[in-house]
Formats: sequence, structure tokens, C-alpha cells
Amino acid sequence: MRSMGFELAGAGVVVTGGGNGIGAAMARRFAAAGARVVVADLDADAAAAVAGDVQGIAVGGDAASEAGVQRLITTAVGALGSIDLFCANAGVAPPGGAEAPEEEWARAWDVNVMAHVRAAALLVPAWLERGRGRFLATVSAAGLLTMLGSAPYSVTKHGALAFAEWLSATYGHRGITVQALCPQGVRTNMLAEAGPGAQFLMGATALDPDEVAGIVVEALADDRFLILPHPEVADFYQARAADTGRWIQSMNKLQRKVETL
Ligand SMILES: NC(=O)c1ccc[n+]([C@@H]2O[C@H](COP(=O)([O-])OP(=O)(O)OC[C@H]3O[C@@H](n4cnc5c(N)ncnc54)[C@H](O)[C@@H]3O)[C@@H](O)[C@H]2O)c1
Repeated sequence: MRSMGFELAGAGVVVTGGGNGIGAAMARRFAAAGARVVVADLDADAAAAVAGDVQGIAVGGDAASEAGVQRLITTAVGALGSIDLFCANAGVAPPGGAEAPEEEWARAWDVNVMAHVRAAALLVPAWLERGRGRFLATVSAAGLLTMLGSAPYSVTKHGALAFAEWLSATYGHRGITVQALCPQGVRTNMLAEAGPGAQFLMGATALDPDEVAGIVVEALADDRFLILPHPEVADFYQARAADTGRWIQSMNKLQRKVETL
């Protein structure tokens, strides 16, 4: 059965990367709506601070490695009974192109893609048995379009979106709902650390994390696959599909502008 909306009140929720930014804002909004929240973050102090604010449970440590995901899900199931909503939100955005160090590419794959795959591997069997479960992937508009200045980010966010699409297409009729959150700029540490090119491209339209979390709460109620806090992203996505060559040329024009900054 396809699900119809999500009841946050009483739900067991996990948010990775919940110590800061979008994840922290989602944890706060979810808890305010009555959810019981596990806040996972590599930064254990940040996870503990947010968990303290929302009367949730903090899980410090890596939420991307196989062992880290296993530990997180075991702890969360122990604390919550069952996981009704898993938010694969932790992400990294290393700068650079093909020349970016191998370790940075590997970390981007691990955190932005494989963390989602590893979590789904552990969650899906229990969700199929119950006939219900929800996976919310924080992707990015970069997963639908591209992100100038970071090839590892663009490539791995496309991977995250591809995995979310596959999961939804495969299990949609068996009670698993998948949603992909694809914002452009959001005022978090990630954007602040992204350099002048990112500020030029995204600064003017950047949203506050709490606004994004509010849109996520709305989207949980209607099950939409793509959650687009910047609605213009839908137009860019269509333009890319309709004439990909022309869209790439327009991105290259922006690249040339960024190079003059
Ligand atoms: N800020 C933006 O402009 C923007 C736009 C689109 C998408 N996103 C995505 O939103 C998500 C959240 O990013 P944010 O902007 O809130 O950034 P942020 O830097 O404020 O928060 C990211 C959090 O993830 C944690 N983290 C990183 N690797 C981890 C790991 N292996 N295990 C556990 N925690 C880990 C960090 O410690 C940090 O607390 C990311 O997936 C990012 O790609 C951000």
C-alpha cells in the first residue's frame, strides 16, 4: 500500500548530520511536532547539544561507514522501538575538480551516497515486514543540476538522487516512501565555508535552515518525491532535460563569471 502522509506525533525519527545546519533544524521541527528524535553527528558535542534541546538521543560518530551505520541503527532501534523516518542528511562538499585528492572523492562517495545505501540495506527489510517506512535523503539542487566549483559534490549528489529514485521506484508499492530534499543555498556552515563562487551563485537566494525544515514538515504530509525549497529549481531541471547542451552552455557562462570574482 502506498502511504498517505506521515504523522510526526509519536514517530521514531533518525537525523544524520543532526548536530548542525539543516539536520539540526529538522530535528527541532520534528520534535516540536511530537516526534522522538535520534540526533546523529560526527561532532558528538553538536549532536548532544541538539539532542538536549529536543529531549532526544544523541549518537556521536561516523554515520557513513558500514560499522557506523550499523551502530547508529542498532542504537536508534533500541531507543525508539522502530525507525519510522530515517533522514540521511549528513553531507560533505569538498571543493575542486578531477584533481581533488582521492581521499576527498572517497569521503564524498561514502558520506553523500554510501551512507544512504548502507542505511537502506539495514532499514528496508524491517520496513517491508511492517509494510511501512520512510527514507528522506538530503540531496541538493546539485543532484538535479550541477554545482560549479565541486565535482565530487555534483557527482555524488547525482548518485544520491539516483539511489533515492531507485529505492522509491522499487518499493513504492510496498509501503516505503522516499523523498529527496533538493535545496539550493541554505545558510549553514557548509555554505559559509564554500567560498566566494558559492556565495555569488547561491547567496542571494539562500534560505535559513529553519525555513527548509518547515518545508520538509509540509512535504512529509503529502509524500512528494522531490522537495524543492527553491521552486525555480524545477524550471532549471526542465530546461536541462529539454536542451542539455544549451543548459551546459549557460552553466559555463556562470563559470566564466565566477572566474572573474
Ligand atoms: N547548505 C547548503 O547550501 C546546502 C544546499 C543543498 C544541500 N545541502 C545538504 O544538506 C545536508 C546538510 O548540510 P548543512 O548545509 O546543514 O551543513 P552543515 O555543515 O551545517 O551540517 C552537516 C553536518 O553533517 C555532519 N557530518 C558530516 N559527515 C558526517 C558523517 N560521516 N557522519 C555523521 N555526521 C556527519 C557534520 O558534522 C555537520 O554537523 C548535506 O547533505 C548537504 O550536502 C546543503
